[in-house]
Amino acid sequence: MRMVDLIELKKNNGEFNKEQIQFIIDGYVNEKIPDYQVSALLMAICFNGLTAKETALLTQAMEYSGDIIDLSMIEGVKVDKHSTGGVGDKTSLVLGPIVAACGGKVAKMSGRGLGHTGGTLDKLESIPGFNIYKEKDEFIKQVNEIGLAIIGQTASLVPADKKLYALRDVTATVSCIPLIASSIMSKKLASGADTILLDVKYGKGAFMQTKEDAKVLAKTMIEIGKHCGKDTRATISNMNQPLGNAIGNSLEVIEAIHTLKGKGPKDLEELCLKAGSTMLVQAKLYENEDSAYKALKEVMYNGQGLKKLKEMVKAQGGNVSYIENIDNFEKANVMIDLTSKQTGYIKTLEAKALGVVAMKLGGGRMTKDEDIDHRVGLVLNKKIGDYVVSGEPLLKIYARDKVSDELLEELYHAYEIVDEKVDRPVLIEEILK
Ligand code: URA
Repeated sequence: MRMVDLIELKKNNGEFNKEQIQFIIDGYVNEKIPDYQVSALLMAICFNGLTAKETALLTQAMEYSGDIIDLSMIEGVKVDKHSTGGVGDKTSLVLGPIVAACGGKVAKMSGRGLGHTGGTLDKLESIPGFNIYKEKDEFIKQVNEIGLAIIGQTASLVPADKKLYALRDVTATVSCIPLIASSIMSKKLASGADTILLDVKYGKGAFMQTKEDAKVLAKTMIEIGKHCGKDTRATISNMNQPLGNAIGNSLEVIEAIHTLKGKGPKDLEELCLKAGSTMLVQAKLYENEDSAYKALKEVMYNGQGLKKLKEMVKAQGGNVSYIENIDNFEKANVMIDLTSKQTGYIKTLEAKALGVVAMKLGGGRMTKDEDIDHRVGLVLNKKIGDYVVSGEPLLKIYARDKVSDELLEELYHAYEIVDEKVDRPVLIEEILK
């Protein structure tokens, strides 16, 4: 088989078989096929797509390119959840504990943030001592004992995706639905859970700009999951504005703690309860979403969810006193309000622009190996549909040092304020299965 013939085949809109896809993935991982040939193929895929069968075959070839995590030593149904990424998305910090408090087994491998989107691991590391590295046996023991562990992906998990994603990033081939679907699903399948819930986001702060594209991506991933015998479902949620109010690592952990006391922002609470009910039904722990929702709300308001978070933090070496008393989190040096220059209703709140500012403040990475400052970020005071009076704060900035006028301007431009009343956006559009 020759790679050049396979590029030609896809250029002419042909369909690959299993052997051809295996040849490409093996050849690329083993460095027999060079980047430039794979780049050409990726671009041909962007233009001509992959069939559902090709996408499933590609996902499986990628899944088996490295280690597969065997979670069979964990008793019960192992549930996993994945978000396609957004701004202020601290769902896992709330969802993991409440699902575990209702009997779910959450053995989760998460990622770091890159660009304007945050990552669960960076958020957890703002708790001093929290260790995201665990040997497999320890990881399994922790989930068996407390029902919850969140760790980093090992280097040997889906090496094909690591190489392909890095190449896609520099060849303008990230935004291609079959490539995104196979990238996400290969990692989820290799992580070994029995059920998968995908939170597919759309809007200005997400990978998918439109609801329609988000649904196509969700359906593509659900099909892959079905093909591999896993119960896979998806929430389609709006990321035109940040989720909750906090953006930035320790600020988001603090917001997650408030939410686990029943005092969090309503949009975050609602997403966690809805996604969590689907996960508990997938795990067959509850017969329907309504009864699961009730149980989750109870543990969110009676402290059982917060107790689970504390148990996980303790088991992973973190200082639990930070969860018990949020005042222990180190404060940013500078805290200032961005005030409104107009009176009216918030019509637009650009999630991506806010994510970029949080990153520039030092809360995110522009390159993979950069250090981040866990203290910095933004806390929103006003969101879409809210009324604001001139002079009132729109948000608070948490910074290392003086905030430039340029950055303040950039932030102010993230808001559009109009005279007419604006409806609050619907957060969860649909749940697909
Ligand atoms: N997240 C992934 O893991 N892969 C993609 O291709 C896009 C988002």
